[in-house]
Amino acid sequence: MYDMTEQYNRLADKKRIVVLGIESSCDETAAAIYDGERLLSNIVASQIDIHARFGGVVPEIASRNHTLALPGIIDRALAEAGLRQDDLDAVAVTYGAGLIGALLVGVSSAKAYAYARNLPLVAVNHIEGHICANYLEHPDLRPPFMALVASGGHTSVIEVTDYNAYRLIGSTTDDAIGEAFDKVARLIGLPYPGGAAIDRLSKDGQDCIPLMKHKKNITDGLISYSGLKTAVVNYVHTLRQRGEEPNVPNLCASFTHAAVDPLADYVIGEAKRRGFSTVVLAGGVASNSYLRAKMSAEGEKTGLNVIFPSPEYCTDNGAMVAVRGYLSARAGVNLAGLDLNAVSNLRVPS
Ligand code: KG4
Ligand code: ZN
Repeated sequence: MYDMTEQYNRLADKKRIVVLGIESSCDETAAAIYDGERLLSNIVASQIDIHARFGGVVPEIASRNHTLALPGIIDRALAEAGLRQDDLDAVAVTYGAGLIGALLVGVSSAKAYAYARNLPLVAVNHIEGHICANYLEHPDLRPPFMALVASGGHTSVIEVTDYNAYRLIGSTTDDAIGEAFDKVARLIGLPYPGGAAIDRLSKDGQDCIPLMKHKKNITDGLISYSGLKTAVVNYVHTLRQRGEEPNVPNLCASFTHAAVDPLADYVIGEAKRRGFSTVVLAGGVASNSYLRAKMSAEGEKTGLNVIFPSPEYCTDNGAMVAVRGYLSARAGVNLAGLDLNAVSNLRVPS
């Protein structure tokens, strides 16, 4: 019998809680094991090569590949941690936001696992997971702090007032910042996902092309990237109509500055205004070298502590889910029953 009250009580009695985290919201199949002090394993199988030929993630293909990969990834996470299934105390899984079919693979597997081993099931919000990746390498990090989650699906500015309290204060109204990076990359012929390639190319370029400099893309916490994307498309098409091609490094640098500068100013400004002393970066775009440098420099100027994870913990991974799941399990929150469903548009409350 799957009894949530009994499981809640069992967790409350544990000194050490060993959590398996499962992530399958987009094109990474991932599992990791975390015990509150140490990351015991972290296995990620990326599907990037499978989707690259289509220029973006094909949801049905992502789901099918998660189904094929996930059992082996979980076994590898256990093996690398030197643990057996019996050693686990809870199973945490991303239940949103993300592609519905992809999420369902993780959620169904986690439910089956929890049921078979009679383990508590912890529902993890993917955005909160990204933020929690910061705890792995920054043991001194404690709420309250402000977080910027910049990824392929999100541009979210969030107040973290406690380990389990998140409040959205700013968010994208159209394209997420990573989506804009990927679309610009595609326009200039770089393979999917192009964010990292734009980052590399920008280093040889100058911020010399005026794209959106005079326009405001953030108003009252509403963040827009579709105007910037269109500005790049118009710039490139105008050149091509004249039979010319853009200077790629300069375009990459100019786009990166136009994408990052207003966002960095907004996040730093809000953090100061709201009295935070620490800002954390998270999500795939948080591995962007210009965003990291700009935020660090602005932080130093304004007396804010700016921190971010190593690149491997910025893009989707199981470790962030295991850490978020551990914090929930420790506090006895976000425990789910076997009726847990995937929620593709799951939000952080505002
Ligand atoms: O967090 P993530 O793996 O998936 C989502 O939750 O969306 O983020 C993936 C995004 C992609 O848009 C990718 O192009 C972008 O992160 N990205 C970067 C960099 N590395 C990954 N964008 C800019 N600069 C990078 N170095
Ligand atoms: Zn993500």
